[in-house]
Amino acid sequence: MSQEVDPVKVMKQEVGKAAASRVKSNSIVGLGTGSTSAYAIEYLGDRLKSGELENIIGIPTSFQSEVLAKKYGIPLATLDAIDHIDVAIDGADEVDPQKNLIKGGGAAHTREKVVDSLAELFIVVVDSNKLVDQLGSTFLLPVEVIPMALAPVTRALEKLGGVPELRMGIRKDGPVVTDQGNLVLDVKFTKIEDAAQLEQKINNIPGVLENGLFVGLADIILVGEIKDGKPTVREF
Ligand code: A5P
Repeated sequence: MSQEVDPVKVMKQEVGKAAASRVKSNSIVGLGTGSTSAYAIEYLGDRLKSGELENIIGIPTSFQSEVLAKKYGIPLATLDAIDHIDVAIDGADEVDPQKNLIKGGGAAHTREKVVDSLAELFIVVVDSNKLVDQLGSTFLLPVEVIPMALAPVTRALEKLGGVPELRMGIRKDGPVVTDQGNLVLDVKFTKIEDAAQLEQKINNIPGVLENGLFVGLADIILVGEIKDGKPTVREF
């Protein structure tokens, strides 16, 4: 592989493509957020354009995925117009051996959890760097908070043993504002022993909209890897 090629980008492209190739005609598809999902959306659009795939309706999980779907010609609907989702394809920031996830690196985890949890089949697309033995080991846990509750939620998260930090914008002064108009606290937990319990405890704090722990939702994890200099995709 030449030096200019970014291996992480190649892994993301391959795994996005692999997930999109599993989508069948006549399906309603949850469209995830992030750089890996973006490749899946692009390839879904390619398949529609070529006629290989027909009659797809996308349900976006963010402003980003809505924009991409429009760019690549995927017809869209909202949740009030459909009664099920056949398959959702979405990225993740960490995946543990039980297929539990941390999501929200793009601050889209609230809508992602709504859409991904409704899907009959939820396919997660990651590069091999995202696999961890224990959640929280490499990534902070994103928590979406209603702005007026920022101070009490921060204190409540500290009581749970976390170290919260308000996510700040890049190339934008001030904090990140989500698609819902809320703020994001990225919380460091030294160890997440019981992800299901922590997910519930955080969501029980008044003022929290949703946190990035996705427990028991993923059906299939597709992992992009580079083996002997070549990109491959394996099912985890
Ligand atoms: C969006 O909020 C996230 O949940 C993304 O799905 C996650 O951060 C993975 O993003 P990448 O595919 O860009 O790594």
